Amino acid sequence: MKSIASAPAKIILFGEHFIVYGGKAILCSIDKRITVESELTKTGQIEIESQLGKLKIPKSDSYKNADSVFRPIIYIAQRMLEKFHSESGVTIRVSAEFPSGVGLGSSSACCVAAAGSISGLFGKHTKEEILKIAIDAERTIFENTSGADCTVCVYGGILEYSKDGQIKRLEFVPKFELVVANSGMIHSTSKVVSMVRQFKDKKQEIFSSLCMQEKNLIEDALACLQKNDLTKLGKLMTQNQEFLEKIRVSNDMLSSMINLVKDTAYGAKLTGAGDGGCIIALADKSNLEKTLNALAKKYECFSAKIDTNGLQRSSA
Ligand code: MEV
Repeated sequence: MKSIASAPAKIILFGEHFIVYGGKAILCSIDKRITVESELTKTGQIEIESQLGKLKIPKSDSYKNADSVFRPIIYIAQRMLEKFHSESGVTIRVSAEFPSGVGLGSSSACCVAAAGSISGLFGKHTKEEILKIAIDAERTIFENTSGADCTVCVYGGILEYSKDGQIKRLEFVPKFELVVANSGMIHSTSKVVSMVRQFKDKKQEIFSSLCMQEKNLIEDALACLQKNDLTKLGKLMTQNQEFLEKIRVSNDMLSSMINLVKDTAYGAKLTGAGDGGCIIALADKSNLEKTLNALAKKYECFSAKIDTNGLQRSSA
């Protein structure tokens, strides 16, 4: 039996980095997916194949020795094989509709899809159980994750996420469009999070004042989402970008991309860890085309729809 699971890419509308230190973030899953197919084998090996490479190791080899690209998947496979006292090996195939390392949550989507797929070989698991396995797996490469990215990949839609794990899913579907543009600069989330930690340790007062301002901004953003007030929501996004610049996770390229849409979109900001990766611009039908055109001359970009499905599972 093949067990198949897929999980969506994500964008962070508000609150990246600050969420690592408490407070809230607003995240949204979008219509690009990572799919994982797995199957038990008699080889005693863990075999992984993805766009990022191939790996074949005896299932007893520690995940800690593997390249970081494969580590979370090996962790999940070993945890499941051990939990169910299985003698089998497992083959795992990963395919992605979006690039990794650009702030769209590829590592979280991969952890969630792998946890969904591999656990499915051993019977039904709840979404909560899969989320727990996925976050533990992500921690093998990114110890300080807030867990926000995996959470939105599991549940889908727009989530208000608190660091203590509390989540509130927005029940209405806001009427906005998002343009996602890729700077092409690959980043490492854990490195950028460490840079922010250093900034916080050196500039404690500035950082805690920014955390407070971000908290208020997120409350305003939630009210704007309820009212679908895109003009104000866009301004709040631009203001959030200023906070991210202050903690030094933006760079010249991201600023110039944001500048390209300043007269067309309602607002724009980087999304995810920053220091490369993607920006998002807020639009609706009236300005979507113009916003896409402003970016498409220089950057790979697409309009993203909100995914409301989150984790999906099947078997074949
Ligand atoms: C990365 O997509 C989001 C960060 O806030 C890290 C995290 O929440 O774990 C930068």
